[in-house]
Formats: sequence, C-alpha cells, structure tokens
Amino acid sequence: MIKRILTGDRPTGPLHLGHYVGSLQNRVRLQDEYDTYVLIADVQALTDNFEHPEKLEANILEVALDYLAVGLNPEKVKIVVQSMVPELTELTIYFMNLVTVATLERNPTVKEEIKQRNFVKGVPVGFWSYPISQAADITIFKAELVPVGEDQLPMIEQAREIVRRFNSLYAKVLVEPRAMLGQMARLPGTDGGAKMSKSLGNCIYLGDPPEAVRKRVMSMFTDPTRIHPTDPGHVEGNPVFTYHDVFNPDKAEVDELKERYRKGTVGDVEVKQKLFAALDAFLTPIRDRRAEFAAKPERVREIIREGTRKGRVVAQSTMDEVRTAMKLNYKLA
Ligand code: TRP
Repeated sequence: MIKRILTGDRPTGPLHLGHYVGSLQNRVRLQDEYDTYVLIADVQALTDNFEHPEKLEANILEVALDYLAVGLNPEKVKIVVQSMVPELTELTIYFMNLVTVATLERNPTVKEEIKQRNFVKGVPVGFWSYPISQAADITIFKAELVPVGEDQLPMIEQAREIVRRFNSLYAKVLVEPRAMLGQMARLPGTDGGAKMSKSLGNCIYLGDPPEAVRKRVMSMFTDPTRIHPTDPGHVEGNPVFTYHDVFNPDKAEVDELKERYRKGTVGDVEVKQKLFAALDAFLTPIRDRRAEFAAKPERVREIIREGTRKGRVVAQSTMDEVRTAMKLNYKLA
C-alpha cells in the first residue's frame, strides 16, 4: 500500500517562510510519492480563538490558497477541513482515556504557548488537550509520515504513545507516525528571534507583495556587534545569512558575500538587497499562482470540498476498525 502523509496548519492567518521551510517544502517534494492529506485544523484553532470563530472561514480559504500557491497539486493532495470530519471528534474522546493530565501538563510546546497567551480565566481544557486531538488527526489517516516544524515534535511523540497504548490495549489498528523535519530545524524571525511567528510580528508571508518583503528585509536584524560596514562581521547566527543559505540559489554569490562580510568589505545594505532579490525571485511564482487561484474562489472551495470528502472516507474506515477493536460495534441497530 502506498504510504500516507498527514500534516496540517491552524487557520489563524496566512502562512509564512517559516512554514515553508519547516513543512510545506517537504509536502511539495513528497506529494508524488505519498498519499498526502493536509488538514486545515480549524477545531484546533478554536482552542485559543474560541471567542472569534467568525475569522475561521476566511482564514481557511487563505491557508488553502497558500497550499496551492506553493505548488501542492490539488489533483493529488487532499486538503481537508478538520471540523468537517466529525469522526475526528469521536476518536479524540476515545483517546482521552489513554493520556494522563500529568502528561499533557509536561508538553513543552503547549507550556510555551500558554506562556505566550493570555488566558484570563485560566487555561481551557480544550487547549491543554489539543495534542490529543492532534493525535487523532494523524492516526485517523494512519499516516506514517508527518512533515512538521521542530515545535511539533512533542505532538508526534504524544501521538506515538497513544498509538502504542491503543494497539496494545485493544487491537493493532493504528500506525505509529514519524515526524519529518524541514531542511532547517527552524527559520529565525526577521528580528533574529528564535522563530517566525505571527504574534511576534517578525514574519515574511508567502503572499506578501514585493514592497512589504523589501521593507522587512531592509529592516532585518543582522550582527549587533558590527557598527560600521568596515568592521569584520559575523555570519553564523546572522539571520540575513541564514535566509541567504535557504533562499538564494546562487551559492557562489552567498559565499562571496560571507567572505566579504567577515572581512568587513561589504555593508549590510548590499547583503540585504541581494537577499531581497533572491526572495523576490522565490516568491514571485508563488504570488502569481496564489493570484490565479484567488481569482477563482469557487474552484478553491471545490478543491477543499473534494479533499474533505476523500479524507472523510479514510476517517470513517479507520473508525469502523477502531470501534470494532474497542468492542463498540454493538449489535443493537
Ligand atoms: N499543531 C499544528 C500547528 O499549530 C497544526 C496541526 C493540527 C497539525 N493537526 C495536525 C500538524 C496534525 C501536523 C499533524 O501548526
């Protein structure tokens, strides 16, 4: 049987270069080899946006546009909307018996996210337990591979634990997934912070117009120890060079810039201008494809409907097996 990929994103806004490096690039690369399902995780997005459900629908379309823009082929990849697969909710509830509260409280990504958010009335149960729902997302598709950014590793580990527990308690129905990280563990923000994150305002979005990209690049954090362009500079840990390494295909140019930067014979402005040129060349076809699909919203909705329909067939088939394994296939009907 052809192996499956499941991964996804919360529809909380447009996707950025960090998403591309962390996961989208792998999805595009592997879409011909794997039966690929990409989940737009609106139910998970609600766990910290439950007060603003009205934003979800527009964001779902934005994320789908980003997927299509980076080159996910709608003839192959199934784009699935989480809330439209109610089987996921059922599996989440069954999984809740297999995880302790203490385990959830130890999840480092969830802990970090709680710190960043301001839950005035305390942390909702839904937020603490979203790793369980994410395990349902992955396992209902029997995915073997989950292309994700580094911050998602604890979720994959949680899913693996649940699978082992389920399979040993009930029957060997579920598949233990593996995470696949992007070419870089994580892309730093334009401010030099550890990662690109919408809430930190340090992102370059895949759909950004050239002027927005230029502004972000020209104001990027570089080497704080370097005051004058004639001072020898640091290349390592300098996000401008990190981006050059990832997005500038002209390796000779990058090497030359690094050498001159270390010697103090090139200014930040030139390094940034060349980075902008490279990013613009990378983003232009993405932007164009995005515009093409954005002009046909009904076609995009149809792609989502069709992907979700196919995803639901897989989900229902797994749930039949799950209910049988759990002796829930009562003969009462
Ligand atoms: N937690 C992921 C994020 O914040 C989104 C997500 C939901 C996901 N379900 C998933 C990722 C299943 C991988 C697999 O972006």
